[in-house]
Amino acid sequence: MAPDRLPTGIAAVDRLLGGGLETDSLTEIYGEGGSGKTLFCLQVAYRVARENRWVFYVDTEGVSVDRLRAVAGADLDRILKRFLLSTPKDLDEEGRAVATADALAREGKRPVGLIVVDSGTAYYRLSLSGDDEDDARRTLVVAVADLVATALEAHLPVLFTNQVWRSVREGTLEPLGGSFLNHAAKTILRFDRLPGDRRRVVLVKHRSLPEGSAEFRITPTGLD
Ligand code: GTP
Ligand code: MG
Repeated sequence: MAPDRLPTGIAAVDRLLGGGLETDSLTEIYGEGGSGKTLFCLQVAYRVARENRWVFYVDTEGVSVDRLRAVAGADLDRILKRFLLSTPKDLDEEGRAVATADALAREGKRPVGLIVVDSGTAYYRLSLSGDDEDDARRTLVVAVADLVATALEAHLPVLFTNQVWRSVREGTLEPLGGSFLNHAAKTILRFDRLPGDRRRVVLVKHRSLPEGSAEFRITPTGLD
């Protein structure tokens, strides 16, 4: 089956992506704190749930319901009936939450429209330079590989957010997760903060579209 597109509802982003997020593969979003990654995930998830399809949402930040209320407004209760939300408290729990979401998506009993893992690398980051770094890397690699396989098998878009580190030498913000994640993601978006409520999304990698960028604004009810 050829990939389909899931419109994000943000016109400039949908133009940049040739119609929206692709099914059958993993889309990585990286960017500094406050760049809008979570808001973007919530907004896309809201659109999916509104169409009565399920969203499997792995939330390591513990903020989604409050912030989903801002996006969904009076729709919140109806929307939550289509959310399978998990809030893992460490990387091992995150790995198990991802495995559960993958298994349910493949089982196909519910009509699933989207899997979100936000933040995909916050717990992983905590293990870097520690004794458990190798274990953490393995957990992350297994989770990402399983998400990639599930996206294809269940014909779904998967959104995976990634944090950044600052390269002092290059003066740039680089994604965590290393080359493995960058290869696993078929589409990579970088979110940049601009002055005030403006944000830029840069298409860093796509298998068929040219590199490019778009701008949006953070508003009280989401992204515009
Ligand atoms: P990290 O998770 O820290 O890496 O940031 P992010 O890229 O996920 O950014 P997020 O989407 O959380 O934030 C985007 C913008 O939303 C911020 O610049 C704030 O203006 C706003 N924001 C952040 N937290 C809240 C909140 O709890 N409520 C509201 N209304 N706005 C928030
Ligand atoms: Mg976030």
